[in-house]
Amino acid sequence: MQTHEIRERFTQHFVNAGHTAVPSASLILDDPNLLFVNAGMVPFKPYFLGQQTPPFETATSIQKCVRTLDIEEVGITTRHNTFFQMAGNFSFGNYFKEGAIKHAWSLLTNSVEDGGYGFDPERLWVTVYLDDDEAADIWHKQIGIPAERIQRLGMADNYWSMGVPGPCGPCSEIYYDRGPEHGKDGGPEADDNRYLEIWNLVFMQNERGEGIGKDNFEILGPLPKQNIDTGMGVERIACLLQGVDNVYETDLLRPVIDTAEKLTGATYGSNDQDNIRFRVIADHSRTGMMLILDGVTPGNEGRGYILRRLLRRIIRSARLLGAQGATMEAFMNTIMDTMTPSYPEIADSRERILAVAVNEEKAFLNTLESGTKLFEDAAAEAKSAGKTTIAGDEAFTLHDTYGFPIDLTLEMAAEAGLKVDEEGFHSLMAEQKARAKADSQAKKHGHADLTIYREWVDQNPTEFVGYDNLEAEARVLGLISGGEKKTTVGQGDEVEVILDVTPMYAEAGGQLGDRGLIRAVGALLNVTDVQKIGKKLWVHKAVVQEGQLGLEAVTASVDKQWRHAARQAHTGTHLIHAALRQVLGPTAVQAGSMNKPGYLRFDFNYTEALTPEQLHQIEQITNQAVDNDWAVNTFETTLAEAKAMGAMALFGENYGNEVRLVEIGGPFSMELCGGTHVAHSSQIGPVAVLGESSVGSGVRRIEAYSGLDSFSYLSKERALAAGLAASLKAPSEELPDRIAALTEKLKAAEKEVERMRRAQLVAQSLKYVESAQDVNGFHVIAVQLPAGIEAGELRGIATEMRGQIANKDAVIVLGAESAGKAPYIVAATKSAIARGVKSGDLVKLIGQYVDGRGGGKPDMAQGAGSNIAGLQAGFEAVKKELESL
Ligand code: ALA
Repeated sequence: MQTHEIRERFTQHFVNAGHTAVPSASLILDDPNLLFVNAGMVPFKPYFLGQQTPPFETATSIQKCVRTLDIEEVGITTRHNTFFQMAGNFSFGNYFKEGAIKHAWSLLTNSVEDGGYGFDPERLWVTVYLDDDEAADIWHKQIGIPAERIQRLGMADNYWSMGVPGPCGPCSEIYYDRGPEHGKDGGPEADDNRYLEIWNLVFMQNERGEGIGKDNFEILGPLPKQNIDTGMGVERIACLLQGVDNVYETDLLRPVIDTAEKLTGATYGSNDQDNIRFRVIADHSRTGMMLILDGVTPGNEGRGYILRRLLRRIIRSARLLGAQGATMEAFMNTIMDTMTPSYPEIADSRERILAVAVNEEKAFLNTLESGTKLFEDAAAEAKSAGKTTIAGDEAFTLHDTYGFPIDLTLEMAAEAGLKVDEEGFHSLMAEQKARAKADSQAKKHGHADLTIYREWVDQNPTEFVGYDNLEAEARVLGLISGGEKKTTVGQGDEVEVILDVTPMYAEAGGQLGDRGLIRAVGALLNVTDVQKIGKKLWVHKAVVQEGQLGLEAVTASVDKQWRHAARQAHTGTHLIHAALRQVLGPTAVQAGSMNKPGYLRFDFNYTEALTPEQLHQIEQITNQAVDNDWAVNTFETTLAEAKAMGAMALFGENYGNEVRLVEIGGPFSMELCGGTHVAHSSQIGPVAVLGESSVGSGVRRIEAYSGLDSFSYLSKERALAAGLAASLKAPSEELPDRIAALTEKLKAAEKEVERMRRAQLVAQSLKYVESAQDVNGFHVIAVQLPAGIEAGELRGIATEMRGQIANKDAVIVLGAESAGKAPYIVAATKSAIARGVKSGDLVKLIGQYVDGRGGGKPDMAQGAGSNIAGLQAGFEAVKKELESL
């Protein structure tokens, strides 16, 4: 049974039983605790916790999940995927244990004709939590599983939580016995390879607190209702139903292995080490593709780092299997083909996914070889010195210069039987970060640890009224100063103020937070930044200007000018984005943006620098859109509706079902965006593009001014041009030609000056003819000339000197210091040669004193050395030689 069909049967089974089918959420949800969605229940968390009322009592979904904790297990075990699909059914206070068990059992064991998966009930085992007699009884008495196939396990196995504070509860897991050839008898307790876990039923009934690990946390108390959360591993079911050995050989991933065989020349199945590499390629290609689909781009931190590490592991594995050139495009195309039936949205993003993955490959292939060599040298050196560890600074160089994620270096070291001084590496990284941070803006949140906000976050306290109002009456719900909660704050204090209602925009979607004032009867606060924690908690960073503030009534007002200019910049950003895509095409996908009053920047994926013409076009289209005086319409709609209308979603944002669409000029620009905007495009004022630059591999940045700042910028530029025109006494349109002509002239003049300086040097050198000495009847000139004379000039001078004393038995030896070298020359007249002088031999002789090499004919020979200090000794040696002739 194909994976796509396994998914459809699952959904159908639960829809038939009255569940609402909910589409998978993005892999990236706005949860400070989670890098990626790692379980089907994550999007439903607020319903379990009773923070929100679910719109349905029962639901079913097939959620995209990424777990990279076990990345080292990929390809080694038969069942670890970094990306997998968790099929689940959920009950929010509706059915409980009995319902969950019966639903799961019927889908697994119903015949294929009846819409089930047709598993043999005799092969299924279950586990329950230690004291969960209720679940054990249902399995035994109602389902009929013999007692010996029901095992009781402890908290680590049969008590499920997200690993962080949140809903939790005892669980019951269903296993499939793959047979004695896969491991020993004794049920899941004894062997989790032979007995493959396929479905986890969580009886979600408590809330857990802080703690570490799977079994070491506090239970805070019961949830408002008894709920059900289940997760069936789609890829594991596929593995079993397709009769393949492991999850990398199913219909979705096996084609990638086939592609890898073609590209590398290696054969899957020939040895364990290669098998692992093939599986890593298959698994990671899919995870990488799905992450890019959801908007992740490779980077050095957080989600970007995970993606980079996955892609680089693919590239390295392909190399180790024998690939010579690029492989990424083929892997991505294969995995996109197999995944598109279940994820049709891939079709729209193919080009973008390819561009991101292929760029990363290009960047890494540039350094892979040199980095590998550096690693191998370091490893060999460590080994020959009897060490077992690669130094932290080597790992740092590999990371910083060669783009080797530290985990890759760790893996390579482990393969070579070595360790890495991780502490040394991390302290170098920390130093580098500290340096970078010192340059960057002040910290956004007062506290990296967000737990201080938790009490308020869970209550969704702040109502934002700032789309329509710039002022609002509010209550202070909380005050934080110096990292602690306060009930009053006084003059001069830097504080974070939490309000129940606010007109102030909190930084999001690239738009900086508003500035403004908070006023109370006896206090005035200046708001310097507004940040959002989670989705609903507004934190106003402020300084108390006057008086004292407690948990009391206040008036909060936005700085009108600030907001006006912020709106201009944000709407301007949308226009630039639309213009950019008109000029560059749809692969120029947004990678980030920032806007604040008067200024905006927009980052996008693109491999080449923009030409001045492209930049000009973008600016032109943008300002034309301003001039069109289009209405800027914002309206709430559903995500599906918005996508159907062609809206561009900002990646990395978690859109609920209701989204806010900002539309300018009909199809010209439609974006999902929560920012504040002008009402008409003409209110943006002029947009002046400053330029574009590279901000990392495959990402470019365009910067612009908006509104009055554009005017100030353009006016300054004009003043500059006018000043230049005045000093060059030319009309400004002639400036480029004039300046080009001037530069040409200047270059010619500089050349001429240089020529004359040299001519003078040469002329001066000729006077040394008079310093000739008599050595054994030879007329000898041996001098070190002024520094800067080049080898070619030495030749000219020597020839000239020799001409002046051609009638003597003359030997000329010259040297000079030039560009860190010591060129030298020997020339001899005809009669000197007749007496046995050989210039070539003398050059070699001098070479011994100046660490030089050279040669030539008897009449003239030249050399160059590195030790100018030895030149005088070289001269003496020449004289001695002449004495002996
Ligand atoms: N939430 C449960 C799990 O992830 C179903 O295993």
